[in-house]
Amino acid sequence: MGKSVLVTGGAGYIGSHTVLQLLLGGYETVVVDNLDNASEIAVSRVKQLAGDFGRNLNFHQFDLRDKPALEKLFSETKFDAVIHFAGLKAVGESVAKPLLYYDNNLTGTIVLLEVMGAHGCKNLVFSSSATVYGWPKKVPCTEDFPLQAVNPYGRTKLFIEEICRDIHRADPEWKIVLLRYFNPVGAHPSGEIGEDPRGIPNNLMPFVQQVAVGRRPALTVYGTDYSTKDGTGVRDYIHVIDLADGHIAALRKLDDPKIGCDFFNLGTGKGTSVFEMVAAFEKASGKKIPIVTAGRRPGDAEIVYASTEKAERELNWKAKYGIDEMCRDQWNWASKNPYGYVAPDSTN
Ligand code: NAD
Ligand code: UFG
Repeated sequence: MGKSVLVTGGAGYIGSHTVLQLLLGGYETVVVDNLDNASEIAVSRVKQLAGDFGRNLNFHQFDLRDKPALEKLFSETKFDAVIHFAGLKAVGESVAKPLLYYDNNLTGTIVLLEVMGAHGCKNLVFSSSATVYGWPKKVPCTEDFPLQAVNPYGRTKLFIEEICRDIHRADPEWKIVLLRYFNPVGAHPSGEIGEDPRGIPNNLMPFVQQVAVGRRPALTVYGTDYSTKDGTGVRDYIHVIDLADGHIAALRKLDDPKIGCDFFNLGTGKGTSVFEMVAAFEKASGKKIPIVTAGRRPGDAEIVYASTEKAERELNWKAKYGIDEMCRDQWNWASKNPYGYVAPDSTN
């Protein structure tokens, strides 16, 4: 039988794609998600996409802060490792509601770590973020850059990284891989699963996608006066399938007895501007994306992209896809599911 992995937040955007790759890789996979920002339909589509491997997927709907529910799950199943995606992720909302973020992200993680430790499961892969580099002074971002949080969301990532380093220091049996994602975009090539944000999207590509399907009239481009190739912000966009595969590489890394608590960037190492990304999406979709230009979005960095050397060298992982494939697959998902997993209603 394959190894058994608990995936928290596995119904969400990155989680659902990772669960599919896990199933296809022969892992027994258990998802815990409270469905606060996800649909159970994503889980059933993953099951279908996995074919025969779909029978190795089990789903439980509860909140990670529900310690008795988590205790029960761990007493029924022996997990070899946990991949911990569950968390809230909207930067603006975290500024407005910091306690919501500290409670959900920090308490959820502490409860998880307590229950894991009590059941002798001390192998963890955690979803960190390039946000822990704050506004990097230079690029590419290497893992040894100073860490800095610039909003409550970012602070939850930084605190959880520090908590992980502390528990490993206190008990070296813990093996932990912290993955610092850059900008995940795209969808599974089948178009069956993808990103389905609730409300007005905060991030560039979900917004572009909603303009393309006619749900929003135009994209607002925040800032055209940056010192970049065309004046717009530059980011390291990474195909969600490459990102998902990065988690499989991280799980393999947990078999390395010397791993300790280590951290890796998951990006492509390439910087792409907002205008370049929009042009690539227009090409992939054949749709014109109307644009309105506006001032810089408060808190935004100018240029952020990853150094990928450490992940390539030590995880033996490298992103395979470029922005054309990211846009092609995102459009395939969007055109098949213009309203995401659920039919339009008054909230959309
Ligand atoms: P997502 O919102 O689609 O997925 C997160 C999932 O966690 C959701 O399904 C949500 O319902 C669930 N969840 C949240 N709080 C929970 C709780 N207390 N108990 C149980 N389930 C809970 O987000 P995503 O884009 O898939 O991101 C996954 C992880 O990666 C998050 O931790 C996020 O901070 C991190 N990350 C995302 C990005 C990005 O741009 N998407 C970048 C860097 C890091
Ligand atoms: N942008 C627009 N219009 C929009 C949305 C975004 O012009 O409607 C621009 C931004 O100004 C930025 C670029 O598109 O230049 C990318 O913006 P995103 O919001 O998609 O991504 P960010 O890099 O700003 O933020 C993301 C995550 C954060 C995380 C950060 C670093 O949303 O949670 O990466 O990892 F903290």
